[in-house]
Amino acid sequence: MDQNLNIAEIRKDYTLLELSIEKLAKNPIEQFQIWFQQAIAAQVNEPNAMTLATVNNAGMPNARIVLLKGIENNSFIYFTNYNSQKGRELAENPNAALVFFWPELQRQVRIEGQVKKISNEASIAYFNSRPIESQIGAIVSPQSQKIADRTVLENAFTNIKNNLNNTPLEKPEHWGGYALSPQKIEFWQGRASRLHDRFCFELHAENWELTRLAP
Ligand SMILES: Cc1cc2nc3c(=O)[nH]c(=O)nc-3n(C[C@H](O)[C@H](O)[C@H](O)COP(=O)(O)O)c2cc1C
Repeated sequence: MDQNLNIAEIRKDYTLLELSIEKLAKNPIEQFQIWFQQAIAAQVNEPNAMTLATVNNAGMPNARIVLLKGIENNSFIYFTNYNSQKGRELAENPNAALVFFWPELQRQVRIEGQVKKISNEASIAYFNSRPIESQIGAIVSPQSQKIADRTVLENAFTNIKNNLNNTPLEKPEHWGGYALSPQKIEFWQGRASRLHDRFCFELHAENWELTRLAP
């Protein structure tokens, strides 16, 4: 069987919803929040999972999924290891992009902007709110580095877990949040015959300008 032929035959027509300029909020953050609530109501699987794209100083892009953990001061917050590949790339180049795909609603949201580390206090507050296992995971994982095998992680995990003695764990220096401040936010609603609705908000002199884009 020709596997490529099967892939090419996967096809979906998008007829569920539509998006018009009249239906959009004037502010894209507000519009994002409306769509996010609708994604939750529609029981989208992992609605806060987003692709984060970064670019290193050689111009090479890289993308991976991270979880949105909040929107603060109009910025999109996520947490990670500051020494990871993404952390190193963001230190070299703060420009980044986020993409959400909510298939159950036939929607995509694309966000471009610049990333900054959030305050250490805010990272500590979030770290302390995480389940203990996730805290230990963040402590023991030298994210994105080469490791010999799984036991390296498991031994380090068990070692901390067995020596807790009810003492709270401290957030490691190398772990914390980033806030992406958007310059551009695009809302995409799938439509029939590939004539999708696309609306793009761009920030110019503190005003959001809205345009329709061809699909
Ligand atoms: C659903 C999902 C959620 C994830 N959430 C996070 C996250 O919030 N933070 C994080 O550092 N990595 C998260 N990851 C793992 C990243 O995709 C990635 O493997 C890791 O951060 C290392 O990326 P890097 O080497 O480019 O730095 C998630 C992966 C998936 C599939």
